[in-house]
Amino acid sequence: MKTLTQVETAEIRQKFPVMKACTYLDLGGRAPLSTDVLAAVTRHLDDCVQGRVDKDAWFRQAEAVRNRYAALINAQPDEVAYTKNTSEGLNIVCAGIDWQSGDNVVLCPELEHPNNIYLWLNLRRRGVEVRLVKPRDGAMPIDELIAAMDERTRLLTVSSVSFIPGFRTDVERLGRACRARGALFLVDGAQSVGVLHTDVEAMCIDALAVSTQKGLMAMYGMGFLYVRRAVAEQLDPAYVARFGIDISKADAHESDFGGTEFSFLPGARRFDLGNYNFAGVCAAEASLALIASIGTKRIEEHVTALAHALGRGLIELGLPVCGGAPGPHIAQTISVGHYEAGAASPGSADTLRRLHRHLLEQGVKLSVRRDMLRFSMHVYNGMEDIDRVLALCKDFLRREKTRAA
Ligand SMILES: Cc1ncc(COP(=O)(O)O)c(C=O)c1O
Repeated sequence: MKTLTQVETAEIRQKFPVMKACTYLDLGGRAPLSTDVLAAVTRHLDDCVQGRVDKDAWFRQAEAVRNRYAALINAQPDEVAYTKNTSEGLNIVCAGIDWQSGDNVVLCPELEHPNNIYLWLNLRRRGVEVRLVKPRDGAMPIDELIAAMDERTRLLTVSSVSFIPGFRTDVERLGRACRARGALFLVDGAQSVGVLHTDVEAMCIDALAVSTQKGLMAMYGMGFLYVRRAVAEQLDPAYVARFGIDISKADAHESDFGGTEFSFLPGARRFDLGNYNFAGVCAAEASLALIASIGTKRIEEHVTALAHALGRGLIELGLPVCGGAPGPHIAQTISVGHYEAGAASPGSADTLRRLHRHLLEQGVKLSVRRDMLRFSMHVYNGMEDIDRVLALCKDFLRREKTRAA
């Protein structure tokens, strides 16, 4: 596999004007948009302004993007439903299961975004046991999650990369264990899809919920849900609308009513509801074209190399990189701070706050989650961003020393 050359990175950066204005390292929050995305959405809005609406063409475009979503994760188009964000995808799966009192669900809440916690806690009212497993040194505790399953486990859920500290999960091992036990395996891919190579078949993923504002470098209010065909057909859609119904008629119009007896469309299409976010479809199409032109294997390799270089450099400067020396747990994110509450030395949280302010003042865009500084990269980042951040951190630490003396 060919890694990204400097020339390629420079060409990609040209498409992201934000990279001229600042050092953007906040993919964990959201991706900046490219000029390709801007042009696609502008064209769409202009068509709306000028009354050039061709709804059939919009539907064809939505199907083309569904195909691209499927190809991105090695799925079939029928296994992909349109959603508006990750939470909606997760909730579609949760609401589609015929939970029985005494069933259980397994997760590691300390590493999940709240949008992948509350829906499960809410099942307690129905007598479902929510098995909460503790993380291990900031990482997804694979053995413990597997051990927490039993014959009443209906579902196990994890994020493929945690939102903080941003370590990658061994999804494949969990997927195999779930498949062997007959439990559904639901993955929150908000922090990884578009950045890390994802193969739902090889990883034994039953369902994968994604939104497009992070790794897919497109807009808020747009996402997709993959559900393995056989699994989708066992789930009961909580909401039902025309686009999920099989109207067995060529050229059926969206307003056609097929009669009081109806069946759902095959696979995950049954979860589609009403009209799509067509502007979001345009944005996703432009961005997915860029991702496909590079390939997710190369993107993963590129961002991982950057994250390793950043992690090593920060450790050399004496900063507390969460998880220590970068190893296989690192994807596109490096967090600085102490994962375990109370482990921080007195004053270190203040130092990190001052470091954060210094970086912001110098035009570095990053985020703070749970008192940790989170740096996260995508394909528009290059070694120059890493070198700049390390130089700024070095400068800050030198000034801190002088201040303390
Ligand atoms: C792992 C993870 N899941 C979910 C979300 C947000 O979900 P949604 O797309 O529903 O807003 C985030 C956003 O930060 C996230 O990092």
